[in-house]
Amino acid sequence: MRVKITILVENKVKRLPFGAVGRHGLSMLIEFDDGFKLLYDTGPSWETLLHNASLLGRAIKDVSMIAISHGHHDHGNDLIPLLDYIGRSHLPVVVHPKAFDKKADIKMNSTKDAIKDMEADLILISEPTEIREGVWYSGTVPRMEGNPIHPVRDEATGEIIDEVLDDTALYLFSSEGGIILTGCGHSGITNIINHAKEVLKIDRIHAVIGGFHGIGQSKNDLEWSAKRLLSEDIKVLAPCHCSGSLVNLLSNSPYLVDVAVGTELDFYLF
Ligand SMILES: [Fe+2]
Ligand SMILES: [Fe+2]
Repeated sequence: MRVKITILVENKVKRLPFGAVGRHGLSMLIEFDDGFKLLYDTGPSWETLLHNASLLGRAIKDVSMIAISHGHHDHGNDLIPLLDYIGRSHLPVVVHPKAFDKKADIKMNSTKDAIKDMEADLILISEPTEIREGVWYSGTVPRMEGNPIHPVRDEATGEIIDEVLDDTALYLFSSEGGIILTGCGHSGITNIINHAKEVLKIDRIHAVIGGFHGIGQSKNDLEWSAKRLLSEDIKVLAPCHCSGSLVNLLSNSPYLVDVAVGTELDFYLF
């Protein structure tokens, strides 16, 4: 089966499509050639999402499922107006249960009850779960490797105020290797890669697309992460959103993709 992944919302825009808006956040559309459409994250605002999607010629009204990577506002905001716009009952909305927990001031702006009131089918998942054939919602990602874990800290005191245990990823099965989509990568990009291999029962990863969380890390941690990533022989390395200067450390890779609003990536599944 073929899939096309399109970046609808991201921090960066390039020249085209003319008028597209870059915002700190992430949203991707995964279109399967059997017509199934999975919206992965909604970005910081539904207006930005719909604006960019329209410029890119993508309809959001007919998405088959929404999955949210974690409960931060730049990934899961405006679910309620979006569900209202889509206007269909029983639309599956996949979220980690902890995404609704109390967070720092960066929490997404909807509640479980409000989503249910929109007659969506809210599906709370904390364990790896196949949400359609060959596509897994990771649930909680085990944090086995030390440095590259990215909790939210109080800027003044450095105290951890949110471990972001609701951070998840999507794992797609391809014979070329796993395809990983991340939101912010708070669980640590190398932990996500390890987990994807375990869940997909596969020993190589073909593509990683999304937030690698390189912001606010020490030089040593960034270098450690870059070395690990480059050792994986990943053929599509597409860091964006919160990947920060980790991107520069990957710049020697011939497989590095410069991601912006409108970037399209095509894959074969199974
Ligand atoms: Fe983020
Ligand atoms: Fe986040």
